[in-house]
Amino acid sequence: MPGTTGGRAERGFMITTNSLLKIFKKSLLYILPVGVLGTCSPDLSDDPIPPATFADIFINLSLPENLVLNTNGNSKYFSGGVRGIIVHRVNASTYRAFERNCSFQPNNACATVGVHVSTLYMEDSCCGSTFNFNGDPTGGPAWRPLRQYQTILNGNELTVTDEVVN
Ligand code: FES
Repeated sequence: MPGTTGGRAERGFMITTNSLLKIFKKSLLYILPVGVLGTCSPDLSDDPIPPATFADIFINLSLPENLVLNTNGNSKYFSGGVRGIIVHRVNASTYRAFERNCSFQPNNACATVGVHVSTLYMEDSCCGSTFNFNGDPTGGPAWRPLRQYQTILNGNELTVTDEVVN
């Protein structure tokens, strides 16, 4: 009977669908852990950024090599800190100094933050964490802010000290 044939066909289809579902669910059991472990996921027990002591860095903003820091939004790298320092000009009276050691897994050899080519944010191309110029993480596995050092502006001289301000 056509009805019976149809019923068998329908049951057959359902069995196939159920089997597929079972296989799909089983495969998730294997795929999910690999996906989670294979990515740079937030690690709340992560190491802190190592401490750093360094002599004050004096930056004469009148010197040609520092002219880049006379424009809002610009940044320049300096030696110091753990992996170097990014000095960023917010405006004429506000400069920020960020530690380049990434706040995520800072002891990794590649955990170094740089200014993205767009100059709009900072990034650690190692695992892809991104930070805004407040030092806050905006993407990737990093969940802590970048370390910020004290900056003191006196006329045209900007000083960066090893005092951590965040
Ligand atoms: S070390 Fe992986 S995001 Fe910085």
